[in-house]
Amino acid sequence: MIEQTDPGLGRRARLRAMTALAVAVLILSSLYLWNPDNFYLWAKALHVVAVISWMAGLLYMPRLFIYHFDSEPGSKQSETFKVMEQRLLSVIMRPAMAAAWLLGLYIAWTIYGFHGGWLHAKLLLVVLLTGYHEFLGKAVKDFASDRREKSPRFWRLMNEVPTLLMLAIVILVIVKPF
Ligand code: HEM
Repeated sequence: MIEQTDPGLGRRARLRAMTALAVAVLILSSLYLWNPDNFYLWAKALHVVAVISWMAGLLYMPRLFIYHFDSEPGSKQSETFKVMEQRLLSVIMRPAMAAAWLLGLYIAWTIYGFHGGWLHAKLLLVVLLTGYHEFLGKAVKDFASDRREKSPRFWRLMNEVPTLLMLAIVILVIVKPF
């Protein structure tokens, strides 16, 4: 378990994630008060930043699992991978996913009133992406308990899931084909 490596790690990671979210809320409130007419553009810019950070984690985590799989259970290397996976999940991916969802839903509601085939299709694909995120979260827990059920080949194949979803999502939101 990751807690055996450093009991304060989970708490510190949560604290850092909460601080990052609090800073983000503060920045957004200041931007809204400073120039409410332009807030939509700020929200979209920060939405894209959040999405990039989230995607970076979604694409990197399976790569960590592949290296972790090859390390000896209980070794220093294996414990280091546990820390890296836990931090990536709690400090980068979870706050970035929350920010992407909150800002995306805000724009979808205020600008598009949740109308548009492209928006509905995008939301469906983002729900699938969120499911993939949760699947990785469960795998982080399994690796933390030295349960290594899936092979490196499985994780290499899994890496195609966020890539394909990202491709379709970006085309839907920019081309808006329907
Ligand atoms: C988490 C839930 C998400 C929601 C609710 C959401 C919703 C939205 C909405 C309503 C817009 C504004 C579109 C426009 O004004 O043209 C937008 C912009 C954008 N979204 Fe998302 N989105 C989400 C996640 C994602 C993800 C996962 C990606 C990429 C993998 C993504 C990529 C983009 C991009 C690139 C833009 C800018 C498009 C432009 O300005 O032309 N979004 N999003």
